[in-house]
Amino acid sequence: MLIKKPSDIPSSEITPKSVYMDRRRFMTGATLFGAALATAGCEMVSPSKVSANTKLTTTKSPLSTSETPTPEKDITNYNNFYEFSTDKYGPAELSRNFRTSPWTVKVSGAIKEKKTYDVDSLMKLASLEDRIYRLRCVEGWSMVIPWVGYSLSNLINQLQPTSKAKYVMFTTLMDMGQFPGQRSGVLDWPYTEGLRMDEAMHPLTLLTFGLYGETLPNQDGAPVRIVIPWKYGFKSIKSIVKIDFVDYEPPTAWNKAAPNEYGFYSNVNPNVDHPRWSQATERRIGEFRKRPTLMFNGYGDQVASLYNGMDLKKHY
Ligand code: MTE
Repeated sequence: MLIKKPSDIPSSEITPKSVYMDRRRFMTGATLFGAALATAGCEMVSPSKVSANTKLTTTKSPLSTSETPTPEKDITNYNNFYEFSTDKYGPAELSRNFRTSPWTVKVSGAIKEKKTYDVDSLMKLASLEDRIYRLRCVEGWSMVIPWVGYSLSNLINQLQPTSKAKYVMFTTLMDMGQFPGQRSGVLDWPYTEGLRMDEAMHPLTLLTFGLYGETLPNQDGAPVRIVIPWKYGFKSIKSIVKIDFVDYEPPTAWNKAAPNEYGFYSNVNPNVDHPRWSQATERRIGEFRKRPTLMFNGYGDQVASLYNGMDLKKHY
């Protein structure tokens, strides 16, 4: 992962929100029109009701941090989304025409019954909360992001996992036509991630559909992603199409790419450095002075007990 200083985003590179939103609305309309033409005379695909920039009805979450959220223009213009680009300023532009509707998420493996959810029905499975979380990227920058979603445990409980479900594996869409990055060998595509079952069931683990009160912008992982605030950002996998319940530690994209740099657990830990970067401090987007990184990204009171007895230097 490359590092660029967030505060170096020249203001000329940041599209004002009003212009950006208008363009997105125009592009969404144009895409739908194009899709309608393409399907004329063929099988009709019913469009999802919820599309980009839809306002969501939410309640406030007691699990939110009281810190001030990072401005939306930074959250939506400085992204890691390698399926679009390895350049952090690339995904905002390159994801404009990304089709998030219709979109389904398949759930399978060690559960009572496998299912395919339309993303709209998945979104309605539990009440949506505003959850303001810190996000700490392994590259040394951090943000505070007002996500919208519900605890993944709501879905898992409904699926009734069997005793064979030890881990959960998540998979991002594979579509080289839409993801130019998947034509390169930078990662072994599709992007996959995984959690131990107790981590997946932890109330902080968020099945995420929005940010700043609206459906997710494409560059932030529309239409549905995971956010795990006590782990480095790369565990928070975007644009998910598949959730599998398995009895083995799932292979993950970054662990496969560089196992000595990215462990399966990847809990934020200021005492265990990445081979190339210290993890002791971080730069909050919009701030100049670095701040100390907190164990488990400051969520230790809630999650430290998950790792009792584990050597976190070995299980990095
Ligand atoms: N998910 C997929 N599918 N592809 C990616 O490249 N990047 C990860 C994570 N999820 C990534 C992904 C990394 S490295 C980070 S830091 C976060 O997404 C960034 O999320 P954001 O762009 O919404 O801030």
